[in-house]
Amino acid sequence: MDRQDAYDDPETPFIPTFRIKLQPTKRKKPSPGTICAALAGISLLSFGFLLLKPLSHLDTQDAPSYSAAFNSQPYVQGPPTQRFRDNLRNNTKYITSWTSAGWTNDVMTYGNLIYLALITERIPIIAKFLSSHIDPSEPPFAFGEIIDVPRLSQAIGIPVLEWHEVKDPESQVLDDIGCWSVWESVENYKEDPRPRESPTIDRLKLDISWTRTPDWVKLTPPGIIDDHASFWSLATLAFPQGRSDNLGLSNHPSPQHQVSLPPDDQLLCFDFLYFIGAQQPWEWESDYSPAWRFVGQHMRWNASVERLADAHARRAMNVPVNEPTPPYISIHVRHGDFGDQCRSVPLDQCFASLSIIARRVSEVQEELRTQKGIEVTQVIMTSDELDPEWWSGVRALGWTWVDYATERTAEIYGKWHPVFIDAIIQSNGAGFVGTRGSTMSNLARRRVQSWHNGPTRIVQWGRPGADDH
Ligand SMILES: *[C@@H]1O[C@H](CO)[C@@H](O)[C@H](O)[C@H]1NC(C)=O
Ligand SMILES: *[C@@H]1O[C@H](CO)[C@@H](O)[C@H](O)[C@H]1NC(C)=O
Repeated sequence: MDRQDAYDDPETPFIPTFRIKLQPTKRKKPSPGTICAALAGISLLSFGFLLLKPLSHLDTQDAPSYSAAFNSQPYVQGPPTQRFRDNLRNNTKYITSWTSAGWTNDVMTYGNLIYLALITERIPIIAKFLSSHIDPSEPPFAFGEIIDVPRLSQAIGIPVLEWHEVKDPESQVLDDIGCWSVWESVENYKEDPRPRESPTIDRLKLDISWTRTPDWVKLTPPGIIDDHASFWSLATLAFPQGRSDNLGLSNHPSPQHQVSLPPDDQLLCFDFLYFIGAQQPWEWESDYSPAWRFVGQHMRWNASVERLADAHARRAMNVPVNEPTPPYISIHVRHGDFGDQCRSVPLDQCFASLSIIARRVSEVQEELRTQKGIEVTQVIMTSDELDPEWWSGVRALGWTWVDYATERTAEIYGKWHPVFIDAIIQSNGAGFVGTRGSTMSNLARRRVQSWHNGPTRIVQWGRPGADDH
């Protein structure tokens, strides 16, 4: 049986006053209709451009060829080993952390980890994405199957390793290691703050002895209830003096072997790096966000999964086989559990109506017309809304969507793929319209801006007239 909340994230506000759960889309969509693709308005200019670059029609950056410039081999001893330590090079320092917050947030968590690797001059080791928010029985998904790791490495100038390259995923050896617990210090307003758990730790067969980070890692002043730590305070612990000066705080012996270990110096590790900022909480929203600027925007899609998303988008728009993918406007409307924030406001007045969203789509169309000279008539909706009537309204506007049930995407490729494909389709819009409070919308917005120089809008909601402007 499908779990309706499969894509939900149990935790993750990104606007402090709200408790917002996060994530992609649960879906059960009405059967597909015939969509008459109105291609007439596409200018010859963009048409020619499209022929050259059928996959990513508005991709303004040339994809360089990523040779073996950052082949991961030299950064480990060799093929994956039974114990991770046997594969680390004795002249190299590494950094790792784990995830537990739903896919979009896990992408941001890894962005934070890799940014921390940059400023500490360490090599990041990235674990697989967990499937707990999709279906715990689904296998985890390798970072490099969704993100183009060679391209990322090239862009940011450091190697990026994945755990399966370091430690044999089949290994039964339980490795002891000491790590820092950030969660225990930022959550110290709680009665019994604890290190953040992640199912990945068990999968990697790690037996961790946690040491609490000093309270000054907290980003906001003491007394403010907020879970963010600061990048640079965590970074100080990566260096000899910062490390040795701060080893004194409470240490938990490892749960299995009951060993007490200081935080590892060669493989620096933190329990949870989602809630990290340089200057303020929820920073991935801000223009200056260093994690976005120095890492996140360079996390481009793995070409195989991007091709698959393109094929889905093409079918949604009924594009004939020998024609290029036309530019389209992507929309992400998150409803579902966001309704919990509406409190006494009835849902139909709390969420932005389709006509409000359509006004934003028109603005994006207008900007594309006046600033880029392209007429974009195709609009692709992504949403977790389940109400067939709402989807009829989407069709009435002449918009389309990917019907994952008819495509049998989850059956053929796995339950992750509808989530990935939604994110990729959003990110490859010539313009984008999203939902305030959704990190998935925020990432889509930033990708469309950064990758396609496309106009974007975020729709306000929560009360009648919230999006008036
Ligand atoms: C570091 O590793 C190299 C190559 O494996 C080895 O020759 C060297 O002795 C090691 N150095 C130390 C200090 O262990
Ligand atoms: C993309 O993912 C596929 C598996 O789906 C993998 O074989 C391939 O190596 C990945 N591409 C890159 C550049 O890592």
